[in-house]
Amino acid sequence: MRIILVGYGVVGKGVTTILAERYKDKVNDYGFNPKIVAIADIDGAVINPKGLSPEKLEEIKKRGYPISADPDFGHPGMKALDVIASVEAEVVVEVTPVNIKNGEPALSHIITAFKTGKHVVTTNKGPLALAMPALTELAEYNNVYLRFSGTVGGGTPMLEFAKRCLAGDKILAIRGILNGTTNYILTEMPQTRVSFQEALTNAQKLGYAEREPSMDIDGFDTACKVVILANWIMNKKITLKDVDRTGIRDISLEALDEASKRGNTIKLIGSIDGDKASVKPTEISKDNPLCVSGVLNAITFSTEYAAEQTLIGRGAGGIETASAVLRDLLDIRHKLADRMLNDNSES
Ligand code: HSE
Repeated sequence: MRIILVGYGVVGKGVTTILAERYKDKVNDYGFNPKIVAIADIDGAVINPKGLSPEKLEEIKKRGYPISADPDFGHPGMKALDVIASVEAEVVVEVTPVNIKNGEPALSHIITAFKTGKHVVTTNKGPLALAMPALTELAEYNNVYLRFSGTVGGGTPMLEFAKRCLAGDKILAIRGILNGTTNYILTEMPQTRVSFQEALTNAQKLGYAEREPSMDIDGFDTACKVVILANWIMNKKITLKDVDRTGIRDISLEALDEASKRGNTIKLIGSIDGDKASVKPTEISKDNPLCVSGVLNAITFSTEYAAEQTLIGRGAGGIETASAVLRDLLDIRHKLADRMLNDNSES
């Protein structure tokens, strides 16, 4: 499987690390033989149609920016869109920074990949939050797959758990702590008696916060994840504008202390219940399985037959999120193998 990697930040580097490990293991899962044939970043690209070796990937990582300075395969100034359109590959892995204003540049990367017959794996919430119904239709129209496990729950397989493990059951409602940064802030404030601002600065140092802090603290990041869950798991055709959203800026230490006296705490909860999709600070019991601390994420699926199922795990981090990309690549590999079997049986 030839892969074009677009974006070389913390997740992109995690993807090259994990895939280089897979080359070495020579793991042959349904013929899964990943080869990164190009990496595109803002300065240009590195391209080797035969695949960049683990040694070359390591060299690129050590040299750092600009990646296009590579003496063997560097293409300074080459645009990601041109790389996607011109390099032969089966899959584009899109891991550029999130932009919820217009979804760019990721949105154009994804559309160009589809139009040139390439499957897409993305961890980018922007295009999905703004245009998920249209993008899934476009993928179908072009007969390609779009996968996005890493957009919700980081390395924790929240989307797959609901889609596969709860298959056949009806998911009636979803509630979750879907943002590590705000959960860290709401945990730190009462525990270490720090102000909102101090807790936010610590979260940024830990590397979980988005570039633009408003994405986390005003609930946009959680709202994007709510949109993805609603579309993918509950078949609702909604976008970011349909989510009723309140962030955690106004949550004081006093409010958290008051909640604590009642055996409760305040968490930023994203939920989908009936036609309502919302993000808001909510008082919940400390005994609720959703009540996880620090940067952890947790999600509860309320189902018709299996009652409530809660999944807890790390919702962010480069290597964790890259592990979701690997799962998606394997899923596409399995789907392609099934397609080939079907085609052969029909002919
Ligand atoms: N800023 C996000 C968080 C990153 O804190 O959870 C993962 O989406």
